[in-house]
Amino acid sequence: MVLSKPASDSDLSMLATSASRYVRDSLPRYDMPENSIPKEAAYQVIHDELLLDFKPKLNLASFVTTLMEPECDKLIMESISKNYVDMDEYPVTTELHNRCVNMIARLFHTPLGESEDAIGVGTVGSSEAIMLAGLAFKRKWQNKRKAEGKPFDKPNIVTGANVQVCWEKFARYFEVELKEVNVREGYYVMDPAKAVEMVDENTICVAAILGSTYNGEFEDVKLLNDLLLEKNKQTGWDTPIHVDAASGGFIAPFIYPELEWDFRLPLVKSINVSGHKYGLVYAGIGWNIWRSKDDLPEELIFHIKYLGAEQSTFTLNFSKGSSQIIAQYYQLIRLGQEGYKNIMENCHENAMVLKEGLEKTGCFEILSKDDGVPVVAFSLKNKKGGHDEFEVSEMLRRYGWIVPAYPMPADAQHVIVLRVVIRAEFSRTLAERLVHDITTVLHELEKLPPKVNSEGKEVHVNVEENWSNGVVSKRKSDLETQREITTYWKNYVSAQKEIKRQKVMAS
Ligand SMILES: Cc1ncc(COP(=O)(O)O)c(C=O)c1O
Repeated sequence: MVLSKPASDSDLSMLATSASRYVRDSLPRYDMPENSIPKEAAYQVIHDELLLDFKPKLNLASFVTTLMEPECDKLIMESISKNYVDMDEYPVTTELHNRCVNMIARLFHTPLGESEDAIGVGTVGSSEAIMLAGLAFKRKWQNKRKAEGKPFDKPNIVTGANVQVCWEKFARYFEVELKEVNVREGYYVMDPAKAVEMVDENTICVAAILGSTYNGEFEDVKLLNDLLLEKNKQTGWDTPIHVDAASGGFIAPFIYPELEWDFRLPLVKSINVSGHKYGLVYAGIGWNIWRSKDDLPEELIFHIKYLGAEQSTFTLNFSKGSSQIIAQYYQLIRLGQEGYKNIMENCHENAMVLKEGLEKTGCFEILSKDDGVPVVAFSLKNKKGGHDEFEVSEMLRRYGWIVPAYPMPADAQHVIVLRVVIRAEFSRTLAERLVHDITTVLHELEKLPPKVNSEGKEVHVNVEENWSNGVVSKRKSDLETQREITTYWKNYVSAQKEIKRQKVMAS
């Protein structure tokens, strides 16, 4: 029922919010209420409904930071009302942004003189950073083709099939063909040799990933660079490399300093990193750094005058909050290289504890590498007793854990993995507790009827048999019925999405 009468003074002073009519009656879901309600009631109603969300700290599906220090929370609240784009009004915030860009650029070995400014930008996340990086590559390639009098209408980009969805978005939104190198069972990242084979005169760049979303593995950027240098020499092209270091960009500099993946390699022209992943800031911050001014075409930079002094921007949106930029600056100066190194080492050790615990069960094969993003990706050996990874994921939710299960990309879709992302706030105690709960789930699964056969195909007939009246009737268990309904709806929704997608593509 819509609440039509404002509260009388006595309503809230006499009654606790929890006894007032604001929590007794329901609010309209999709229509804006006609009348106001007291702030206490609004807070309580929303707060209570949000309790039904899972706990962010136990969301092991996500790379994104869920805990910062109270001092940083304080700075975030102090700057929550500042619009970042008002650079003339908030020059100190702009200065902190520029310090972050310079610090990160130097971590990535950008070739800069002592007092030279780095070229980079703060974004909402790696996705926006990748859109901007991709646009710069596309424009640079087009300019060169135009100058040579060659066609410039069929740009493509070469990546592994294991790229995150933001690359597919970039390709579709900005009309660039995505040429993917398929993975294979046992090798789940882009093969540099195959990538270089796919490069042609229309390739705007090859994108390598430092920390595959699927299993955390670092791609071999050095080998890619060397093979591509050779191909460029033979063909006369100058195909560059972008490194998507969304998660690895704040890991490799601290715990694998010898690994050459960044601007130390001559063909690497831009790098993105998510500040909100291992940069240790809450959701809403990413960075893109360019090797030099020459790698960011001038015509993509907008110079605006209507906010006071002239300002330059290269972002997809205009207004955005300042808090995350300030929070990133806090982490960089508060932790320093020493702090980041300690945290990344700790994450790595916790990943090893989890990996070893899983190996001890004898039921899992580990598909992540020890040296990479601290992610443990694993799959069931021989579909344990007719069960699959989706069941493990589903059952772990009952213990409060979110551990996603998903298929590997083409050509290894038949391999299903469970993935645990070890973030800074994930303690050793939690790692041990997770191993314990996974072991319990394995025991529980042994008591359930099988879901899949040895090839991983779903078994539809239930083992439960009813012998009444001498007739054998096979009845489905609740779990099986639930599964069937879920599968039906999942297939239905996917089919609808596909139809919609095809309509959009056709129009
Ligand atoms: C490799 C990779 N690239 C890009 C992204 C997108 O990052 P963001 O969530 O910061 O937009 C992700 C997110 O998980 C990722 O793993």
